[in-house]
Formats: sequence, C-alpha cells, structure tokens
Amino acid sequence: MQNVLVTGGAGFIGSNFVRYLLQVELNVRVLNLDALTYAGSLENLKDLPDESRHTFIQGDICDGKLMDKIFSEYKIDTVVHFAAESHVDRSILGPAPFVQTNIVGTFTLLEAARQAWAGEGIGKRFHHVSTDEVFGSLNPSDLAFTESTSYEPRSPYSASKASSDHLVRAYFHTYGLPATITNCSNNYGPYQFPEKLIPLMILNALQGKPLPVYGDGKQIRDWLYVEDHCEAIYLVLKNGRPGETYNIGGGNQPCNIDLVHELCSILDELKPISKSYKELITYVPDRPGHDRRYAMDITKIQNELGWIPMHDIETGLRATVKWYLDHMDWVEMIMKQERFSDWLEHNYTRRGR
Ligand code: NAD
Ligand code: DAU
Repeated sequence: MQNVLVTGGAGFIGSNFVRYLLQVELNVRVLNLDALTYAGSLENLKDLPDESRHTFIQGDICDGKLMDKIFSEYKIDTVVHFAAESHVDRSILGPAPFVQTNIVGTFTLLEAARQAWAGEGIGKRFHHVSTDEVFGSLNPSDLAFTESTSYEPRSPYSASKASSDHLVRAYFHTYGLPATITNCSNNYGPYQFPEKLIPLMILNALQGKPLPVYGDGKQIRDWLYVEDHCEAIYLVLKNGRPGETYNIGGGNQPCNIDLVHELCSILDELKPISKSYKELITYVPDRPGHDRRYAMDITKIQNELGWIPMHDIETGLRATVKWYLDHMDWVEMIMKQERFSDWLEHNYTRRGR
C-alpha cells in the first residue's frame, strides 16, 4: 500500500478514514477524489495529520477519462471506494443519482482499475465499502446477517449498493481483479452530515426543534462508532483475502426511540435547558418500505483478522454529542447551506402530505 485512491474522502466515513490512514501508515500517500456533492465538504478535511501526503481532487467517479488519468499519473496501487449517494430517504424521493453514482460510478472505477492493473494483480487491492442493507430486513427473532445471507435489498439505495457489490464480485471472478468487500452497519461519530438520525437529533434538539421519529420508533440498527469501522477496513486492506467479503458491525442494537432517549439524556446532562429534550420527541409518518431491523454477525472478521469494535454505544454516543457541541462552527457552516434547508422542507415539512 503506497498510493491509495480514496473515493468519497470528503464525506463522513471517507474523511474519518483518510485521517485514520495518514495516522497509522506513515509511508502512504492518499489521493482523495470526491465530487463534493451536498454530502461532501473540504471542512471535513481540515487539520489532517500530515497534509503533505494528501492530495485532493474534485471529480466524479463516473468520469472514466479522469479515473484513467488518476490511476496512471498517481500510480495507484490501492483503492478504497466510499463514494456513493448514501441516504435512504433521498433515494426514495429521487433514486436516479443513486443508480448513476453507486452503480455506474462503481462500474467506471472498476474498469479503470482493470485497465491500469491488467496482468499485475500482486500488490494491488480494490476495496469496496458496502452496507448491511443489501441483506434486507430482519424480524426481531431472526439470526444476524452473515456473509452468506442472500441479498434482498428493499430501497433504491440498498438496491444500488447491492448492484455495485455484484459488479465488484464479478470483476474478481471474471478478470481476477484483487477485490475485497466489507458490508457494514450504521455508523455514527464526528463529521456525519446532519441528515442522518443521530446528528439530526442532536442538532434539532440544540435548536429546540421537534425530534422526528419515523413510525413507531421500534426499528433496530446495529450502531458502530466510525473509528471502529476505519480500523476494520484497514485490517481488511492489510490482511483480508482477495475475493472475500467481511461483515462489520457494532453489536449495539437499541431501537430508534431508545437511542433518541439516550441522546436526550446525554444532552440534558451536557447542555441543560429548562425542560428535558425528550419533550421535543415527535412521531412522524413512517419511511416507505422501512426496514425493521439490521444485525451483523462479525464472527468471520473477528476470527480471521482479530477485529472487534472498541466503542460501546454509551461511550460512542457521549463522544459524538461532545464532538458536535465542540464543533458548532462546522455545524453552522453545514446548516447554512441552502440545499440542506431545502432537504429539511422536502423530507419533514411536507412529510405524509
Ligand atoms: P456520505 O454521504 O457522507 O459521503 C459520500 C461522499 O461521496 C461525499 O463526500 C460525496 O461528495 C461523495 N460522492 C458522491 N457522489 C460522488 C461521485 N459521483 N463521485 C465522487 N464522489 C462522490 O456517505 P458515508 O456515510 O460517509 O458513506 C460512505 C460509504 O460507506 C458509502 O458507500 C456508503 O454506502 C457506505 N456505508 C455507509 C454507512 C453509514 O452508516 N454511513 C454504513 C455502511 C456503509
Ligand atoms: O445500515 C447501514 C446504513 O445506515 C448505511 O448504508 C446508510 O448509508 C446510512 O444512511 C444508514 O441508513 P439508515 O437508513 O439506517 O440511517 P438513518 O440515519 O437515515 O436512519 C436510522 C434509523 O432512524 C432508521 O430506522 C430511520 C430512522 N429515522 C431516521 C431519520 C433521519 C428517524 O426515525 N427519523 C429521522 O429523522
């Protein structure tokens, strides 16, 4: 691993990964390619551990010529592919960009890697970052997803991610592209765009706005602190076997309403106001096709690579709330974006109409 192309490295997990990689691998150079959609920001890349080993290029993974140029000019030997449209609610209201970036974009990147690495797979790695949502939805008593659970995506987002996983696997089997895939559960932590549950709840609470819980709030996610995800990906890059898939999860599975209560309790303690933040909780119409439960069986990555998550939900949530409280300048910059207020209007104000 010398010249690493990180796609989507200005987004939530990608920027955390760039920071992590520069810290743990002192000889690596990172080429960070990101289109800077609404979800990506250079604000997420301030104060990197070693700026001199980081190059940022604004560009689209669907641009084949640019991808070819990057592979040859920067002698890319490793790809860590995060770039995606990532929000389920947006995929319901407008699926087209999901098909374009997640499917066509991944295909374009795979083609560039195949051409650039033709016949010389040794020392190369294409790592694709995917999601537990490709496996569909669990009932409360079902066993957790394993790597051999069959795919049953149920939203335009998860269907597009499932397609990209299939393409990556096809390139391994057909062309011998040295690829690995990780399917991960819900991440949370610093720099998460406030459209997702945890930052949205923290920031709405701080503004005294309603905390919108979809449906009955009993849906379950397998929450993972983002730093743990970065470590797992790094171990797969170092020691994971080409052609293999690894499940990653946090083992933290509160239902949404319990999680929101926990966030409110932390805020009541760290930023007290005259009432409990719990009074802001408001049930709103459910997400169409809302997956009930996700849970990941992480036995494989634990046994093969020795990875387990280091953060439990209490320490992770507390660290996250503190991070947002300490980074209100970042928050203000993100909230000011006109496009974000449009989104809030679209998804919440007009909800159920
Ligand atoms: P994010 O939405 O915060 O970031 C995505 C980044 O990709 C943004 O910086 C955006 O500008 C960039 N991007 C979008 N389209 C692009 C394009 N066409 N070309 C180049 N860059 C583009 O997403 P995230 O939460 O950081 O997720 C990163 C990856 O991890 C995604 O592939 C997602 O499916 C996967 N994942 C996310 C989670 C989670 O809980 N957030 C869990 C499992 C897997
Ligand atoms: O499981 C991994 C996936 O987790 C990733 O692949 C996705 O990129 C990521 O966005 C996330 O998807 P979810 O749909 O699970 O995350 P989100 O934060 O949008 O929602 C978490 C749960 O909270 C879900 O059950 C919907 C609910 N929710 C969400 C929002 C934004 C609410 O009740 N209210 C809200 O306002």
